[in-house]
Amino acid sequence: MSISLKFHEENYTIREISILDKHIKYRAFENIVYAGKPVDREHQSLSIFVPEWYYEEADGKEQLKKVPVFFPNTVGGYMPGLPEPPGPNRSGEPNASFYAILNGYVVVSPGARGRGLKDEKGAFIGNAPACIVDLKAAIRYLKHNRDQIPGDVDKIISNGTSAGGALSALLGTTGNHPDYEPYLEEIGAAEETDDVYAASCYCPITNLEHADMAYEWEFCGFDDYYWGEKSGVMSEEQKKLSAMEKLLFPSYLNSLKLVGDSGRQLTLKEDGNGSFKEYIAEYVLKSADRAAECGTDLEALTWLTMENGRPVGLDWDSFIKYRTRMKTAPAFDDVHLATPENELFGSSDTERRHFTSFSLKHSAVSGKMADEVQIRQMNPMNYIQDPIAKKAKYFRIRHGAADRDTSLAISAILTAGLRNEGFSVDYHLPWGVPHAGDYDPEELFNWIKTVCKK
Ligand code: DHB
Repeated sequence: MSISLKFHEENYTIREISILDKHIKYRAFENIVYAGKPVDREHQSLSIFVPEWYYEEADGKEQLKKVPVFFPNTVGGYMPGLPEPPGPNRSGEPNASFYAILNGYVVVSPGARGRGLKDEKGAFIGNAPACIVDLKAAIRYLKHNRDQIPGDVDKIISNGTSAGGALSALLGTTGNHPDYEPYLEEIGAAEETDDVYAASCYCPITNLEHADMAYEWEFCGFDDYYWGEKSGVMSEEQKKLSAMEKLLFPSYLNSLKLVGDSGRQLTLKEDGNGSFKEYIAEYVLKSADRAAECGTDLEALTWLTMENGRPVGLDWDSFIKYRTRMKTAPAFDDVHLATPENELFGSSDTERRHFTSFSLKHSAVSGKMADEVQIRQMNPMNYIQDPIAKKAKYFRIRHGAADRDTSLAISAILTAGLRNEGFSVDYHLPWGVPHAGDYDPEELFNWIKTVCKK
């Protein structure tokens, strides 16, 4: 028997919170199960937060019908996520949802299943595509209750960081696609659409089946890796795998037939050089230039060519050396099945699997291969050119210039792929920013305001 997907607007609490000099008062509708046949009620729940002042004004409820919905997922590391209220982030500063309330938006914070979750019989229930299926079910719940839900469900702005950034990109590229339908049916999702209006993606750890080759295209030849206590030097075997992965990247990149901002074909020669590399270098330079404009002293970075205090050129290899490698080769589909992504691509009875033919072939543990459809469903690149998938109109992609969790090539490919199909992408590689998200709330909400006016 399915549970009801009806929204109860009478079930709420009113809360107030101050952080630093900022104060918000909001109405919280919490822990609402969004799937009719949930397999994990705790994670398949969402919470809705609404600025209380809408309820204090005579026409507030009318106004609410036109208010965009900020939809931040809390998935990190492809692990399960739970709904999160507006409040302090880990550094004690207001989180993005706090800013959303402050800016007058409705916040819907969804939970989602993730890798490692098990049911009472010990079967894995959070491997791919569970996380994206759950977020889609949450969107469908909102649309199913469109007349009662506070906010305009035709203006949903998804937001996420890292694995959550990848999920935000997926929400923005795979709207209503039949690939996900059987999984949505299985959990009793409402029969509604699940496309979103806009997607904000911080450092998306995405395009996973090509992320290893992209990583080695960027870092091959730099054998030291820096990952806190896990730092070291790659083994001879890892160096060999790195060199092989690097060679695979140009033909993948060239197969995409991407075109850059000035109409130039983005390609790579076999040696890894070419206009695609220059395309990324231009974004790095733009980033350095913005930093210089804001007063960052770049003079010590001898690999930047400076003119009148502004960067005008860069030495690529020195820039990559400065960035440093974080992960050993292969970075995502590990030959020992030890990464979060190997677990993401597990099945109900196999905890970890490969998801590239390369690592399957070189598996040190006789690993099995993930299902083809499961791999496809996790990669936004597979849907950008598919007319059946309803895409968001607007994307905002941020990848810190100091973020080495995935290659800069990955966000650059996503950006160019989307732009080539006519979608608007605000792309930037913020200077000195490591693997992180929600660090620029003012700019984020300015972007949201601008795209929602269109
Ligand atoms: C995340 C970071 C990673 O380096 C990765 O491989 C997967 C996920 C994360 O922070 O979500």
